[in-house]
Order: sequence, then C-alpha cells, then structure tokens
Amino acid sequence: MDTRLVSSELKEEDIFEKSIRPENLDEYVGQKEIKENLRVFIKAAKMRNEPLDHVLLYGPPGLGKTTLAHIIANELGSTLRTASGPSIEKTGDLAAILSNLEPGDVLFIDEIHRMPSYIEEILYPAMEDFEIDLVIGGDGKSKSIKINLPPFTLVGATTRAGDLSSPLRDRFGIVSKLEYYTFEELKDIVVRTSKVFDMKINDDAAMELAKRSRKTPRVANRLFRRVRDFALVEGTGIIDMDITLKALKRLHVDNSGLDNIDREYLTSLIEKFNGGPVGVETISTSIGEEVTTIEDVVEPYLLQEGFIKRTRSGRIATQKAYESLGIDYNFGFFKEDSL
Ligand SMILES: Nc1ncnc2c1ncn2[C@@H]1O[C@H](COP(=O)(O)OP(=O)(O)O)[C@@H](O)[C@H]1O
Ligand SMILES: [Mg+2]
Repeated sequence: MDTRLVSSELKEEDIFEKSIRPENLDEYVGQKEIKENLRVFIKAAKMRNEPLDHVLLYGPPGLGKTTLAHIIANELGSTLRTASGPSIEKTGDLAAILSNLEPGDVLFIDEIHRMPSYIEEILYPAMEDFEIDLVIGGDGKSKSIKINLPPFTLVGATTRAGDLSSPLRDRFGIVSKLEYYTFEELKDIVVRTSKVFDMKINDDAAMELAKRSRKTPRVANRLFRRVRDFALVEGTGIIDMDITLKALKRLHVDNSGLDNIDREYLTSLIEKFNGGPVGVETISTSIGEEVTTIEDVVEPYLLQEGFIKRTRSGRIATQKAYESLGIDYNFGFFKEDSL
C-alpha cells in the first residue's frame, strides 16, 4: 500500500486533483497576503492592458503552486500553457514553446529550478524584452537571429528558490513564498472538497482530517479521499468522527500528523545517530530516501514544526521529536522499556 502522503504522484490522484482544484482567487483558501497582492497586480495589469509581471511561486510540494498558476491565468482571462523544467532538454524545446505563445498567454514552468542554465539563459531576454536570440546553423556558418515574442507572463514554480540562478530570480517582478496552512484553512479545504464530491462530512471529522494533514492541502485531500472510501464501504455513507478515526488508524496516520517518512527520518536521527548532529546525506542513506526528497519535502515541515533543528554540524532532533515517538528525551530509551 502506498502510505507516502506527500510526494508520490499517481495518475488517479492527478485526475482527482484536477476535479477539486479551485478556479479563482475567492475559492483559493488561505495564503491571504499572496492572494490580496495578486488581486491588485492582476487588476492593475488588466486596467493597463499589459501582461502581468512574471511570477515566481515557491514552497514545499502540495501547498498550491500549480493551482495558483491556473488561477492567475483564469483571473487574467488568459490561456495557460504548461511546461516543466525537467522536460525542457534542449534550447530548441524552450524556443519552440516561447515562439508559439499568443499575446497575453501565461506560461507556467513547473520545477523551474531543474532547467539547465544554458537553457535558462534563453529566458532572460524573453522575460525582459519579449525576444529570443536563436543561433541557427553550425560548422562556422551559424548566425544569430532575433525572434520577437508576444507579451506574456511567466509563472515559475519551485520547491527550491535557492537553486535558481540570481539572474533568473531577479527577472521575476512578483516573488511569493507559499506557507503551510492552518487547521481552520485545511478544514475549509476538506469541507470544500466534500461538497465537490457531494459527500457529507461532519465538522469534527473535517477538523480531525485537517489536523492530521501535515498542514498541506494535498495531504488533506488525499486523506479525505481515503476516508471517503471507508465511509462508503464500512460506514453510514456520511463521514463522521467514528469512521474518520477508524480510517486514520487503518491508514497508520498518527495523532501528530506526521507521515511515514517523517517518522522514519526522526527514528533514524534519534536511534541511529543519537539525536544528531548528523548530515542529511547520512540520514538519506540510512532511510533510503533521496536527499532532494528529504530537503524539499520532509525537512521543511519538521523544521517549521520544531521537530528538528539545522545546525552547522548537521541536523539535530528536538525534545518534541523524542516525545512524538514516545522516546525519553533524557535517556534516549523507549519509555516503555525504561519503566
Ligand atoms: N489554497 C488552496 N485552497 C484549496 N485547495 C488547495 C489550495 N492549495 C492547494 N489545494 C489543493 O491541493 C492540491 C495540491 O495543490 P497543488 O497546486 O498541486 O500543489 P503544488 O503545485 O504546490 O505541489 C490541489 O489539488 C488543490 O486542490
Ligand atoms: Mg505542482
């Protein structure tokens, strides 16, 4: 069974996500500051009849970057074209995408930090002056031609703003960091999703799901989908607290809202490395997860929630981490064993 709650990208899930994605700023829950700013910038761009300034969205997976890109295009009344950093392999790929844009289009490049830097350079004049310089031909006969582009808006999304080169980062007029959501906001998202699926959910059950969702909308919706199955097959057809708790137990989602990788990470840090400090590569080897997954997905949440600290000599587990695993902070033994 897939117990990973954040990173796995499934086909079924893609379809599910599409169907519940909010379509405008009013439906987009939380992220108040980003939303209010975008509202102003979008309105101003429309009043001036100019494209919206380029937007960079960054933050951990599942917080709503792709959703927001769609919403921006929607609110502008524009068409969204999508591409992703890893799929742009040659300068020609990007040149083709750019030269096919229509005036006012929004070009969304997901995982923009994964674009090689020699391809990235094509974006600089494209973003600044709506033109690209293409070198065509070879064997000493190559020449450079300039292609004018229609005015467009680039929306870039990344889990790692720090991996973007500064010339690229500097060309985004609007840079927004997405924050983790509050329980209330996640509850609203769960309730909204339940309405889309015409499935009744009680208030306390929705709050329970919110609290166990790693403060991440994608996780909240994923839990909702699973609990919905239990309610349908083993419950009363309504999502109440009973079936929610039963389902969460069966799914091994614990009270802290941590998921399996979070727990493996903390267990390894505490039991194998005595609580740290230890380097991320060592933890990565120990639990068999990619360093990038650990850095982009696991650690941002654990840091934000105060389960770990980052020091110059490595990661260390806090008292909260010990407590969440039921391990005595002072002795480092399992509480059950030391009694
Ligand atoms: N602010 C929000 N309000 C309502 N639903 C949201 C919000 N942010 C994300 N979601 C839901 O969570 C899911 C994951 O969001 P997504 O935009 O794909 O995240 P990201 O691109 O940052 O990984 C989407 O299907 C969407 O329905
Ligand atoms: Mg995305």
